[in-house]
Amino acid sequence: MAEIRVFASQSALNFALAEAVASTINSAVRAHKKCSIALAGGTTPKRLYKLLATDFKKHVRWRHVYVFWGDERLVAPGSAQRNDRMAREMLLTHVPCPERHIHPMATRAKQSPEDAAREYEATMRQHFVDGRPRFDLVLLGLGAEGHTASLFPDSPALDERERWVCPVQVPVTPSQRLTLTLPVFSQAANVFFLAMGSAKARALRSAISSDADPKKCPAAAIKLVDGRVTWWADAPAAGSNKDQDIHKGAVEETEHDPIVPIQPQGANFDDSEVSNADEKGQTTDHPRDEQR
Ligand code: 6PG
Repeated sequence: MAEIRVFASQSALNFALAEAVASTINSAVRAHKKCSIALAGGTTPKRLYKLLATDFKKHVRWRHVYVFWGDERLVAPGSAQRNDRMAREMLLTHVPCPERHIHPMATRAKQSPEDAAREYEATMRQHFVDGRPRFDLVLLGLGAEGHTASLFPDSPALDERERWVCPVQVPVTPSQRLTLTLPVFSQAANVFFLAMGSAKARALRSAISSDADPKKCPAAAIKLVDGRVTWWADAPAAGSNKDQDIHKGAVEETEHDPIVPIQPQGANFDDSEVSNADEKGQTTDHPRDEQR
């Protein structure tokens, strides 16, 4: 069951979202001594990352966090267009997450997309030793036409059922990218979609509709085997005042089954909780899992 949290302002949304991210990280560390997170790229998460780098950082168990990315643009390492550079500048250089826990994609210049994808999958398989790529938290953005990570409408990568990482050619620049695949996303314990601004309203509406076509709206293809999808939207993205249903919170599960990787192994199912920021974004001053 997906849940939608709609906030009147982006600042209220980002504050509640930062608290939920902190709470989810700390719950995962409490449950199994580490938190595996996949970060989103683009511009929407920037304010969240900056917020997490403020006082929040004292209350998050960053030393136990392992950072991956949902996708990356295949441009020169260090390029301003890279998602890992943005996350480092906004967040990772400001928190005590050990460098050896941070796993950027495609860090070698002149490496072929195919080799970069295989290398990243090998890195992931060294981390997810039971063969099940179960992130405790995946952050995902939403494109105006429904793409998420670098899974774009009608992309062949949407049909991938075995590989965890695919090279893709996308219809926006930079066009050459790597993306995690549906068999990975479907294993997540928590997926937080971030959707802000009226430009995302149409995509959000189709992503949550029960008859969404996952080929045309890849965000609708993100179905979890055993996890929770939460949409974090501001009023313009939620099409405020146009459809009261969207403000009710829960939305009906659609009939699409989760895309399960071949031979998933083992299962340390744990239900990490997310915080309970209310709809107005009223939350405590600090994440509930405050570490003294
Ligand atoms: C990327 C992201 C991409 C992004 C959406 C939304 O590499 O750009 O992975 O999926 O999340 O395109 O982008 P904005 O947040 O900039 O609107």
